[in-house]
Amino acid sequence: MVKPAYTKQFEKDLKKIKKRNEAPQCSAVGVFASLIKQKEKMKDWIYDEFNHVGVDYSKKDNVNEYDNQMGSFRDYEKEAKEFLDKLDVSNPKDLTVIDIGCGTGAFSIHASNYFKQIYAVDVSQEMLNAASSKAKVSNIDNIEFCNSGFLQFQPTEKVDIIYTKYAFHHLPDYWKQAGLLNMNKMLKPDGVLFLSDFVFKFDPDYETNTDTFINEMSKKYI
Ligand SMILES: C[S@@+](CC[C@H](N)C(=O)[O-])C[C@H]1O[C@@H](n2cnc3c(N)ncnc32)[C@H](O)[C@@H]1O
Repeated sequence: MVKPAYTKQFEKDLKKIKKRNEAPQCSAVGVFASLIKQKEKMKDWIYDEFNHVGVDYSKKDNVNEYDNQMGSFRDYEKEAKEFLDKLDVSNPKDLTVIDIGCGTGAFSIHASNYFKQIYAVDVSQEMLNAASSKAKVSNIDNIEFCNSGFLQFQPTEKVDIIYTKYAFHHLPDYWKQAGLLNMNKMLKPDGVLFLSDFVFKFDPDYETNTDTFINEMSKKYI
């Protein structure tokens, strides 16, 4: 029986694909194989969390501004101590901690006094530079700085605690789930995740509500 021309072409294309492991461009089977390959690739595709959303923390000026502003009303030492008290453990010096979105070291620097080892993780190298300068000045040697994020970080060991403050909202909603799953992988079975984060919701009268919010916050903190 004579094979129709399209079948021959089909078999030829299949052979090519098998041989070169790549899809030829100009036939139905080629397009199909190419789509399958793309779908396989899509499985590995993740959101680029190194893209800064909102304030661009890859810029040194923005990092300095953040550090000055936060330092003017936050008591980082108190925040770390309060966390330790809340944790209520007898052996903090045996515990390892990952601080994701560590910024300029708000938590990591002070937490290093209480815990065995801190992994300070941030997608911004400038933030990490600022944090590691503070660690150097204070002769802290139990913080490892890692340029990574919620979605990609793979610690060299599973840890007892993950701490993350004011950073999770940087991920788009869909990717928050992926971030949580990845954090779950970083924790030991009885590990603790401390996630502190918020975003502001304003009703349509944006300007008035923003003013009200600023006034209320300034009464509280200034
Ligand atoms: C508002 S700062 C908070 C810093 C610090 N945790 C604090 O309490 O001051 C947010 C930090 O999250 C970092 N960040 C943004 N997206 C991130 C991601 N996907 N993974 C890890 N860090 C991220 C930013 O670079 C920035 O340093």
